[in-house]
Amino acid sequence: MLKLSAVKGGIQEFSSDLIVVNLFEGVKKPAGATGAVDQALGGMITRVLDTGDFRGKRNSTLLLYTVGRIPAPRVLIVGLGKKEEFDLQAIREVSATAAKKARELGVRNFATIVHGSGAGGMDYRDAALATAVGLILGLYKYKAEKSGENYEKEPEEAFIVEFNDSNLSLLTNSVERAKAIAQGVYLTRDLVNMPANISSPPFLAETAEKLAKDYKNVKVTVFERKDMEKLGMGAFLAVAQGSSVPPKFIVLEYNGSKEGNPVVIAGKGLTFDSGGISLKPAQDMWKMKFDMAGAAVVLGTIKAAAEIKLPLKIVGLIGATYNMPDGNAYRPSDVVKAMNGKTIEIISTDAEGRLVLADLLSYATMKLNPELIVDFATLTGACIVALGMKIAGLFTNDEKLEDQIVSASRYTGEPVWKLPLYDDYKKLLKSDFADIKNSGGKWAGAITAALFLKEFVGDNRWAHIDIAGPTWEDKDDNPLIPKGATGFGVRLMLKFLDELTG
Ligand code: BES
Ligand code: MN
Ligand code: ZN
Repeated sequence: MLKLSAVKGGIQEFSSDLIVVNLFEGVKKPAGATGAVDQALGGMITRVLDTGDFRGKRNSTLLLYTVGRIPAPRVLIVGLGKKEEFDLQAIREVSATAAKKARELGVRNFATIVHGSGAGGMDYRDAALATAVGLILGLYKYKAEKSGENYEKEPEEAFIVEFNDSNLSLLTNSVERAKAIAQGVYLTRDLVNMPANISSPPFLAETAEKLAKDYKNVKVTVFERKDMEKLGMGAFLAVAQGSSVPPKFIVLEYNGSKEGNPVVIAGKGLTFDSGGISLKPAQDMWKMKFDMAGAAVVLGTIKAAAEIKLPLKIVGLIGATYNMPDGNAYRPSDVVKAMNGKTIEIISTDAEGRLVLADLLSYATMKLNPELIVDFATLTGACIVALGMKIAGLFTNDEKLEDQIVSASRYTGEPVWKLPLYDDYKKLLKSDFADIKNSGGKWAGAITAALFLKEFVGDNRWAHIDIAGPTWEDKDDNPLIPKGATGFGVRLMLKFLDELTG
């Protein structure tokens, strides 16, 4: 990960391979830090702007060579876009754009100003955090299993430069927080990008154990098949019975405070979802390695929370297993019993995530006395049909929780949209052979899946976030969001938790 630090000074005097400043769209005469650089360069920037070649469009860049007039040999100007459209997400993107450009140039180090706190008018702390987060997340790269690949040409070090003394401690804090957040997001992205044979249930358990080793207030318990049998987790175990690799029920406890009940975060950890006997089509089946993204959000969030030392209790619950077809696999028509005693008729072995979550949510409800529960799951293709690839579905039985999650989501730029837990659709889950069936059929699939989960949360405050769409990105079309695993949910959850602590 990029080595990042906050330093005091004027950017135009800073000595590094590259300095980064910015410009709003349409500005003809730069002011602030960009103005200071322009002045030091004898008005070079103003002259270039006069040509009309660079107009400051969001995420556009202009590279200038300073031919010895200032210590840095190169200046990069990034476009902030239209002032009316400017927000924290623009800062993150612009910052990521600059970092990527630095990498492309092959520089060893670079320095940037905080974007958006001057003419942008953003709160300094928020702008500094967004700048720092954008730099680190923009440079994320999955270290693929490729022989001979060289990952060493990354910029080693970056500096965020601040002229104003009174802002320096805010900047230092934001940089530290950004590093902690980014460690969480990096972990989540890595786990989701990893192939299904590496990122297995035992591997997720080892990853959790490593967190417990690295942070003294993180504790982990791993429940094996026989332990889950004792707990009565018949739904989870049914999904796991077709796999020769043992499932793991992982419980992570982060104790950042002595007081209060824990916030429970539960994650679907299907390390590969073949569909089971209700086998998925071969086309794109490989993507179902990402079906453990919910679990990865839990791990990433807890790592970052421990790193930031958030003052609250969190319990992370991960249901990790493969869903495989096999002589011992569960079948459509099977009836299984979840930990809370409810019986479930299996209609599709491909509706497996809700079965795993049923037992996780039962465990939270029966054993943990939670303050509230949030679950993350790549639960339904139907949620992608409803909201597309960029927006997660939010379901909740509590209005206040809805507001808290939506406002965290607006802040971090990870969009969620509320869908209804429409009671009448519960009919669609009626079974002739058990209390409930695991598939509600063709229509409103994201909603019926959420209604299924609701049967296992008792009267706890609970939110379910269906991340089937935004957890994976097919195109490289946003500087902040890499192709492949996006890490969606980690920053949102951290902001939510941070606001809970007041
Ligand atoms: N993991 C899938 C959901 C999914 C599908 C996520 C495509 C992302 C892209 C889940 O286990 C699943 O298979 N759901 C079924 C449910 C159906 C059988 C009721 C679905 O969405 O088709
Ligand atoms: Mn499935
Ligand atoms: Zn699945």
